[in-house]
Amino acid sequence: MAAADLVRQGAVLADIGTDHALLPVFLCQNNKISRAVASDIGEGPLAAARRQVEMAGLGEKIKLHLGDGLDGLDGEGVTDVAICGMGGELIADILARAPFVKDASLRLVLQPMTHARDLREYLAREGFAIVEERLALAAEKSYFVLAAEYTGVPYALSPIEAVLGKDNLAHRAHDALFVRMLEKEIKAQRKRCEGLRAGGVPDGEADALLYSLLHYKEEHGL
Ligand SMILES: C[S@@+](CC[C@H](N)C(=O)[O-])C[C@H]1O[C@@H](n2cnc3c(N)ncnc32)[C@H](O)[C@@H]1O
Repeated sequence: MAAADLVRQGAVLADIGTDHALLPVFLCQNNKISRAVASDIGEGPLAAARRQVEMAGLGEKIKLHLGDGLDGLDGEGVTDVAICGMGGELIADILARAPFVKDASLRLVLQPMTHARDLREYLAREGFAIVEERLALAAEKSYFVLAAEYTGVPYALSPIEAVLGKDNLAHRAHDALFVRMLEKEIKAQRKRCEGLRAGGVPDGEADALLYSLLHYKEEHGL
């Protein structure tokens, strides 16, 4: 639902890694998009997508596509691209292999399962502005969902901004889902720092990130 919310009204959507095509089906049923390409690298997920699309009677509006990432989708007239439910590094890799996404009129809706930091750093380095962020809860786990658009202007992110999102840090300090993310990152970073220290290779940057996470928590009375 958080990803659906970030897709623009009237969009032509490419849903990459569509699996059961739930996102394009939902968006078509709610008249939020005009049409979609539902794409997946796997024959199995694409067959599941086909069943879902047929069941919904949306064969005219949702085109099925078997392919790796955005391969073969340039020229489909896509306005919004969703890449959800994959690791942040894989999402960044898919974007890096599709130069046509460097287009200011295109919106990217991205939901990394892991490594959100790598994804945010990739977007910053390549000049994609993060225009909106959402937090979502599913099966007791919290996830980042973000919308990005190309500006061509690279920008810097501090480590804590890359991990938790600049917009989240600025506006969601007291949002329960954000606090959950913050706690999760503190736990993971503490473990990382302790592991490095135990291995005899303490890392100043890792320690500094842990410190900034703890400082943020204290500063906001969390
Ligand atoms: C966990 S499912 C996510 C499904 C859906 N997008 C969601 O968020 O609920 C990940 C899907 O991504 C597909 N996938 C993995 N790597 C891919 C790639 N390079 N290109 C296209 N699809 C890929 C997998 O086959 C799988 O169906």
